[in-house]
Amino acid sequence: MDKKMIFSGIQPSGCLTVANYIGALKNWVKLQHEYHCCFSVVDLHAMTVRQDPKELRKRCMEFLVQYLACGIDPVENMIFFQSHVTTHSELAWILNCSTYMGELQRMTQFKDKSAKNEDNINAGLFTYPVLMAADILLYQTDLVPVGVDQKQHLELARDIAGRFNGIYGDTFKVPEPYIAEVGAKIMSLQAPEKKMSKSDDNPNAYIALLDAPDVIVRKLKRAVTDSDSLVKFAEGKDGINNLLTIYASFTGEKIEAIEARFDGKGYGDFKLAVAEVIVEGLRPVREKYEDLMQNKDYVHKIYTESAQKAQAISMRTMKKVYKKIGFVERG
Ligand code: TRP
Repeated sequence: MDKKMIFSGIQPSGCLTVANYIGALKNWVKLQHEYHCCFSVVDLHAMTVRQDPKELRKRCMEFLVQYLACGIDPVENMIFFQSHVTTHSELAWILNCSTYMGELQRMTQFKDKSAKNEDNINAGLFTYPVLMAADILLYQTDLVPVGVDQKQHLELARDIAGRFNGIYGDTFKVPEPYIAEVGAKIMSLQAPEKKMSKSDDNPNAYIALLDAPDVIVRKLKRAVTDSDSLVKFAEGKDGINNLLTIYASFTGEKIEAIEARFDGKGYGDFKLAVAEVIVEGLRPVREKYEDLMQNKDYVHKIYTESAQKAQAISMRTMKKVYKKIGFVERG
């Protein structure tokens, strides 16, 4: 295998948004030819918060179909549900035994999430980054495209890999983060100083990939901006900065060019224009999604074959691990 390996995943909670599209999915589509890629719907991770089983099953399927609708090529890459590849949980256990409580206690996401879920601070929430490390290390991954908020988890994965290699000899490749340059951070439409979250309680805070055009227009109209009326990227104008970033990400234009076009125009016009580029940009995604949802057999074939491939590749690492740590070889 000469292509470098990439692993990335999105947790199936809430709904995929333009932030996921700009920050992750669009980049995946660009990376998929140059690299050997694994893109997973990380359903095991979703179990760290309480889920409604029926909703979860539906959402997992919708996420996977949206990966495809965004243009991920299922022949060149692996697209699968994390729970379909049994090695993820297997390696997570082994790595749990190579991770210190102190390391996990330092994870800012754990602190944030446990503050938000006071009634369900389960052990899975605590060891979540270890499962993520397993996801990555199983495939001898070179690069992990993640948002800045996941950098700490990736650092931990590198530490765990390094420690394991130090004790047992070379077993895992130590992965590098891959942080996209532009437009990686899309903010909430309602509180633009906060990240756009796919699980926000207020649906007006995000644009879902599957939002209908009229919903997108309505959400944009309600987007929080500031009290002057200059379409300019500037300090203290989080709302407008965010809309400019979204516009630029969809059209590929420079911010200055957009500012010039809207010179002398008000926020109302600008918001409608942002809505329009989003609607047009997402149109092919929406259409392909509808089409694929009518083709369940095809989708089933894709995730089944991908999972089989992923199982075989990751099993090679798993066997190496079991041998190195001293387990008796399976018959
Ligand atoms: N924890 C990641 C997130 O919340 C999702 C994830 C799980 C992931 N496993 C991964 C991302 C492996 C990259 C690689 O965004």
